[in-house]
Amino acid sequence: MKQTQMPLLETRDLSRTFGHGEQTVDAVKDVSFSLQAGEIVAVVGESGSGKSTLARLLLRLLDPTAGRILLYGRDVTKLRRRKDLKSYWQQVQGVFQDSFAAFNQFYTVRRALEKSLNVLDARLSSSERLRRVEASLTEVGLDVADVLNKWPHQLSGGQLQRVMMARALVVGPELLIADEPTSMLDASLRVTVLNLLLDLRKRHNMGILFITHDLGQANYVSDRILVMYHGELVEQGPVDTVLTDPQHGYTQRLLTDVPRLSRKYGDPS
Ligand SMILES: Nc1ncnc2c1ncn2[C@@H]1O[C@H](COP(=O)(O)OP(=O)(O)O)[C@@H](O)[C@H]1O
Ligand SMILES: [Mg+2]
Repeated sequence: MKQTQMPLLETRDLSRTFGHGEQTVDAVKDVSFSLQAGEIVAVVGESGSGKSTLARLLLRLLDPTAGRILLYGRDVTKLRRRKDLKSYWQQVQGVFQDSFAAFNQFYTVRRALEKSLNVLDARLSSSERLRRVEASLTEVGLDVADVLNKWPHQLSGGQLQRVMMARALVVGPELLIADEPTSMLDASLRVTVLNLLLDLRKRHNMGILFITHDLGQANYVSDRILVMYHGELVEQGPVDTVLTDPQHGYTQRLLTDVPRLSRKYGDPS
């Protein structure tokens, strides 16, 4: 099985600039990394370091300025036709920070998830669509009868975040790009979402790119950490190596900003 050896996702010198002339920002610059099926990789970095731009590039919601994206070795950088993007989104799905903004306010939970199923090639019967929607809501720990016919404003932040996960999962993706999915949740709900990511990996061997500005959360869920600084990947490695023996000055500073963590791992300064 050659495919299983190949990384699920690989980027090569992926770059994206915004603006023109003097005003140019290198939001993502020469980012190269890979992620295997069943692996959870955290992307950490302060606000403005390019994490969300990277997420949007990987989801093919934004075109790179340079570089390549490979999915199981297949170059997907130039996908543009609706049909090709739809098949890409069967494999790669995203969840975002602001779940309220991510939803059409005029769609019930059921409608939003059924819409998500439109990326599938197969024409599903309405009972099959409903079955998949219900299974997906159950998988993220929601009570189907309680949420199925509700509108976004009728749900709590925690419920909405799970509905967004369900919307991504309903198509059966192999890669989930999660852009700060917990940052608008309070602490107790955060752990639930992180545990859900761990469950998904275990149950479906899903690859997950988990974006966070919180090293504690990265430590909790991930196998490897990528550190971004001003659009560049300044350090990457196994979570324990990066947290106990950070090489880059920026990573060392990030660690000293997390007192609980630096105590646990020995003060890096
Ligand atoms: N659509 C855009 N137009 C112009 N600049 C942008 C756009 N999106 C992001 N940027 C800039 O790119 C940089 C990285 O932003 P972002 O990817 O949102 O970082 P993060 O998610 O790490 O906070 C920032 O300087 C931001 O202002
Ligand atoms: Mg962001």
